[in-house]
Amino acid sequence: MSEANKQQGLMEKLTALAKRRGFIFQSSEIYGGINGFWDYGPLGVELKRNVKNAWWHDMVTTRDDMVGLDCSIIMNPRVWEASGHLGGFADPMVDCKQCKGRFRADKVWAVKVQSKAGVQVLGVEADDEPHARQAAEPALAKIAKKQGSADVLEVLSADVTLLQPDLAAAFACPSCGQMTLMPARKFNLMFKTYVGAIESENSVAYLRPETAQGIFANFKNVVDTSRVKLPFGIAQIGKSFRNEINPRNYTFRSREFEQMEIEFFCRPNESAKWYEYWRDLRHKWYTNLGLKSSNLHLREHGKEELAHYAAGCADVEYEFPFGVSELEGIANRGDYDLTRHQEFSGKDLTYFDDEAKERFVPHVIEPSAGVDRTCLALLCEAYEEDEVEGEKRTLMRFHPRIAPLKAAVFPLVKKEGMPEVAKAIYRDLKANFPVYYDEKGAIGRRYRRQDEAGTPVCITVDGQTLQDQTVTVRDRDSLQQVRIDKSRCLAYLKEKMGLI
Ligand code: GAP
Repeated sequence: MSEANKQQGLMEKLTALAKRRGFIFQSSEIYGGINGFWDYGPLGVELKRNVKNAWWHDMVTTRDDMVGLDCSIIMNPRVWEASGHLGGFADPMVDCKQCKGRFRADKVWAVKVQSKAGVQVLGVEADDEPHARQAAEPALAKIAKKQGSADVLEVLSADVTLLQPDLAAAFACPSCGQMTLMPARKFNLMFKTYVGAIESENSVAYLRPETAQGIFANFKNVVDTSRVKLPFGIAQIGKSFRNEINPRNYTFRSREFEQMEIEFFCRPNESAKWYEYWRDLRHKWYTNLGLKSSNLHLREHGKEELAHYAAGCADVEYEFPFGVSELEGIANRGDYDLTRHQEFSGKDLTYFDDEAKERFVPHVIEPSAGVDRTCLALLCEAYEEDEVEGEKRTLMRFHPRIAPLKAAVFPLVKKEGMPEVAKAIYRDLKANFPVYYDEKGAIGRRYRRQDEAGTPVCITVDGQTLQDQTVTVRDRDSLQQVRIDKSRCLAYLKEKMGLI
């Protein structure tokens, strides 16, 4: 089996497990779902909350130079004029005349193939050239089987080129394979709505496509009310909405998602230093959540990729089964955003620096992360299959800090007073963490269910507990079982989570 097929298989198994165990459901599934929207189930919501709590704890609670904010999703539409979203936040969209498929032009690729039958064009959808080649593999194999050989002559991205009508004919539709793609059109990604009873041009508003602008719009409020001094940051976690042309790769590109964003304001001459600081800190942060550093990449953008106002930009990327893709972007945005809001609002957004005795518009470093993408990376990283005593086992190796359930408590059998002791331990732990109690079925099956949920330890009350007050603690990863005094369960879990 090719690497691409294996990875595809992994995504299928993962999405099946996520549904079966209540991590992620399709939104409004009983009505057939809605493309690009997802719900987090009982285990997923704990995972997501743990990610957000870890970020808030590490970036806000434990730092002296950060304050938090929680802004409204709908803002005065002038915000989006100032930010440039109304004018420029658009993707090139391309439609197929034949099958009515709709794609993002920058994700459409033409793979030109030479065989005995001549030159033919395969249409595929992919993020980059290596993945375009991978995606074309099955079709290439078919041609090679029929014609004896199939050589790739060229792989072309439809980005930009498709905007020119005469070049549309060079690309095949990734869905139906016909040369029937239409010239691309620009499509604004902001969701539009109306505020109030009357739907008119004057009542148009937008769902925010990023949380960042709420921070800029409140810069003056925060400076005036919270005695922050440069350098300092403002952090926000919240929902954002983008009417993505083609939501893809499970929750990776959705139409409703959550962001964790920081705007870190600093003196202009210190922005390069702070950019490097945040880029490196944010990269490292993901390893503390349990993502292997070998699966994480820091990609510094080339000069040609930078926005005209940006002095630097880097992406933290993760090796997902569907390819290496962005988890977070860190950008040195100079004074662009505050200056634009100053111009559009007419309000003074300068800062008076006591030290230098001067007034200026601070520069800003923006680390902008996605909650859903972090959760998806954690799910991909955690998924594993092994064999225990000849039986196949699926387990989610979450770091205890982000595992949805921290422990499960079982009585070995449902009699002899074991359930009562187990329930008392469960209640004691449950006052501190999400913990699960289960007394049904064979103990082996109960262990397997928790392995799939990613629960780091299972605590079992057995015959010996009734005599010496000890319980067995089974480790999800090593499968080792140790006996500890039942009064030590809470401390044991806290140690495991790195809390003591
Ligand atoms: N304020 C800067 C900003 O929003 P971005 O690169 O467009 O930058 C930041 O988004 C992060 O938000 C991304 O790295 C990603 O984690 C998340 N994100 C963006 N669009 C998303 C989508 N359609 N679905 C899920 N997450 C998304």
